[in-house]
Amino acid sequence: MVPQWIIEKKRDGESLAEADIRAFIDGYTRGDIPDYQMSALAMAIYFQGMSTEEVAVLTDAMMRSGELVDTSAITRPKVDKHSTGGIGDKVSLILAPLVACCGVAVPMLSGRGLGITGGTLDKLESIPGYRTDLDIDRFLEVIDTCGCSIIGQTATLAPADKKLYALRDVTGTVPSIPLIAASIMSKKLAEGMDALVLDVKWGSGAFMKTPALATELADTMVRIGTAAGKGMAAIVTDMNQPLGRTAGNALEVVETIETLRGNGPADLVDITLELAAHMLTLTGIAPDIAIARDRLTAALNDGRALDTFKEMVALQGGDCAVIDDPSRLPVAAHQKPCPAPGDGFIGAADAEAIGRACIALGAGRQRVEDRVDHAVGISGILKIGEPVSQGQPMAIIHANSQATLDAARPFMVTAFQVSADPVVPPDLMGKVIT
Ligand code: URA
Repeated sequence: MVPQWIIEKKRDGESLAEADIRAFIDGYTRGDIPDYQMSALAMAIYFQGMSTEEVAVLTDAMMRSGELVDTSAITRPKVDKHSTGGIGDKVSLILAPLVACCGVAVPMLSGRGLGITGGTLDKLESIPGYRTDLDIDRFLEVIDTCGCSIIGQTATLAPADKKLYALRDVTGTVPSIPLIAASIMSKKLAEGMDALVLDVKWGSGAFMKTPALATELADTMVRIGTAAGKGMAAIVTDMNQPLGRTAGNALEVVETIETLRGNGPADLVDITLELAAHMLTLTGIAPDIAIARDRLTAALNDGRALDTFKEMVALQGGDCAVIDDPSRLPVAAHQKPCPAPGDGFIGAADAEAIGRACIALGAGRQRVEDRVDHAVGISGILKIGEPVSQGQPMAIIHANSQATLDAARPFMVTAFQVSADPVVPPDLMGKVIT
């Protein structure tokens, strides 16, 4: 195999043979193919795309680049959920314990925030002591005990994706449907689940900017998973405004706890119940979505989901006293409201601008090695369509220095629009692909 011939083939719009893709990924994982050749191939794929068959082979090659988790000892159906990433998306923290207490097992390998999108691991690590780096044996023990565990991708799981994702991040090749699909699905298939529900986001705060592109990505991933024998469903959802009313790590944990107490914001509760309902129907735990939603709503309101969350936090070394006393979570030094410029209705609460404000505050990363500040972010975000009066806070900025507060403020000013006329809130959930 001559790597540059494979790069040239893709550059010129030809399909790659299965053997070419496997040899390239094997060579890259071993270190025989350098980053510059992998970057060139990623850019050729970015421009030329890949057929369904090529994406399936790429996914399989990346999945087999490392260890496959053996979950056969877990007798309950195993199901996971993955979001393509957004602002204020704390769904995994609520949904994993919620579905676990309804009878399924959730082996969830999550990611960190990168770019403007937040990451489940960073949110959980704002709980003092919570460990996201469990080894696979402990991961399986936690699932066996409480039904769910949320950890990070280990060094041995889909290592080709780990290397390639970091490379794509610095070579302008992240927003490519074949590369995103193979990246997500290689990790998910390595994790040993029976079924997977995808939340594929579109909008200013997402990688995919239109519903059509999000639908194409959802379709591609559903096909890959179905061909691998997994139960699959994907929901295309709107990420033009943040999910819930907070963005930023500890602030999102506080909102998670509120939601698990049955007091969550409507959009966050609705999307969590819908994704969770598909997890229960795909695994045969509930006969249809309506019955699944009823059972899940009961588990949210009677405290069972909260108890399971508490148990998972404790099993992973976290201070579960934060659940009864969220003031134990990190708190920022400054809280500054963003006042509405006039009376009216919220016309926009732009997810991208709020995500950029979070980065300016230090809640996210600009480079993989950056440390995040768990205390900072935005809370009290008003949603599109809500009434507002002049001077009322549309959001509150939580900052740990005057400099970061000053850096975040301009993004918050551009994020909100106030309309004199009533505004119809957008539909949060679109197409369901199965
Ligand atoms: N999440 C991933 O895991 N991979 C991508 O390529 C994009 C989002």
